[in-house]
Amino acid sequence: MTLSLALLLPNSSSIGCVAQETRRSVTLQAIMPGRHPSCSLTQSHFNSSRGRRERLGTSEVLWHSRGQDFVMDLTLGMEAQALLEDMLEITAQNLVHMEVTEHYKIIKELGKGKYGQVVLVTHRKRGTPMALKLLPKASTKLQNFLYEYCVALSLSTHPAIVGMFGIAIESSQHYGFLYEAALHRDLISIIKPKAGIPEPAAKLCAKQLVSALDFIHSRGLVYRDVKPENILLFDRHCRCIKLTDFGLTRPQGTLLRLVAGIIPYTAPELSRGTGDTPGLPIDASLDAWALGVLIFCLLTGYFPWEKTVPEDSFFEDFVEWQQSGLEEDLPFHWRPLSRDAVAMLQSLLALEPLKRGPVRRVLNYLDRPWRAEVAPTKP
Ligand SMILES: Nc1ncnc2c1ncn2[C@@H]1O[C@H](COP(=O)(O)OP(=O)(O)OP(=O)(O)O)[C@@H](O)[C@H]1O
Ligand SMILES: [Mg+2]
Repeated sequence: MTLSLALLLPNSSSIGCVAQETRRSVTLQAIMPGRHPSCSLTQSHFNSSRGRRERLGTSEVLWHSRGQDFVMDLTLGMEAQALLEDMLEITAQNLVHMEVTEHYKIIKELGKGKYGQVVLVTHRKRGTPMALKLLPKASTKLQNFLYEYCVALSLSTHPAIVGMFGIAIESSQHYGFLYEAALHRDLISIIKPKAGIPEPAAKLCAKQLVSALDFIHSRGLVYRDVKPENILLFDRHCRCIKLTDFGLTRPQGTLLRLVAGIIPYTAPELSRGTGDTPGLPIDASLDAWALGVLIFCLLTGYFPWEKTVPEDSFFEDFVEWQQSGLEEDLPFHWRPLSRDAVAMLQSLLALEPLKRGPVRRVLNYLDRPWRAEVAPTKP
């Protein structure tokens, strides 16, 4: 089988995944087709679920998945939900109504995503430069805007999470909020297709991301959108990077419908059919999976697969290798990686979420080489 996945760097902020020989090119977008909280996390919500979940104590849920039982502690997730509900209500009462250009001068566009546009502005009186994320009212529910803003604000004290100015606005056409601008763009802008980025830079990124994700998880939240477009660069060498875009972040335990819009970063448990399943209670293992895919991209310049479904031959090769455990089954495009990097990624990309390592396991591998010394030859 020839290797045919490569990262493309189109002008837009989304990654393309190209078919060099047999595959058509696919534009990849956010994991979820919509970013509404599919359900809020309340005890009554869990009580009302059908069959597959049972309530144990006041803050635990018993979950049956693929023949296995596990208990998820909901305490942190419920606390996060309660805090966000308070913040949401207070922010809704304090939204500043104004037209952007009254107080801010728009300098240039910094980027665009599926949901919003980000522009560099300066405050007309003070000259302070800031990023302004604008979400069109026509396609954004107020509740979802407030949710994204409040999550970002609640996390913004961490050094690897983008800093917020604490200003949320409503204009005639948009909702918006102000935060720090990254003048070196995002991580996708420096990943060389088929090569990745230098190993020291990949390690710096991994270390800061682990710290940010660990912080998010300790606050009872799951980030759910790890991808290079959401990682802002504050210098060229990745000494200072920051996570942005909290539109998909939800409390641990929130039920997530299995998704149709699958991208390489989507964990396989979310790709296993849709049907009438009530959904999965989300936890930090979803971010561990996406971090594994991201580190693979940084080190190789390739996606490991296009989609985590059996029809994707790259993913199937990976599954076969995980099942056989044989070195000879190592997929070809994993060969530029060192044994240590392979072991680290196998932990983050464990097929069973319960066996997936926590993101901080990456820290154990920082002082070992991540690329193999001898470049592989084509089979
Ligand atoms: N503070 C910032 N400084 C510089 N560039 C930024 C900043 N915030 C966002 N960007 C750029 O704008 C792009 C879109 O922003 P963002 O991810 O917040 O939008 P979105 O519509 O929610 O995205 P998505 O399609 O991932 O859901 C980012 O990928 C990044 O390139
Ligand atoms: Mg984004």
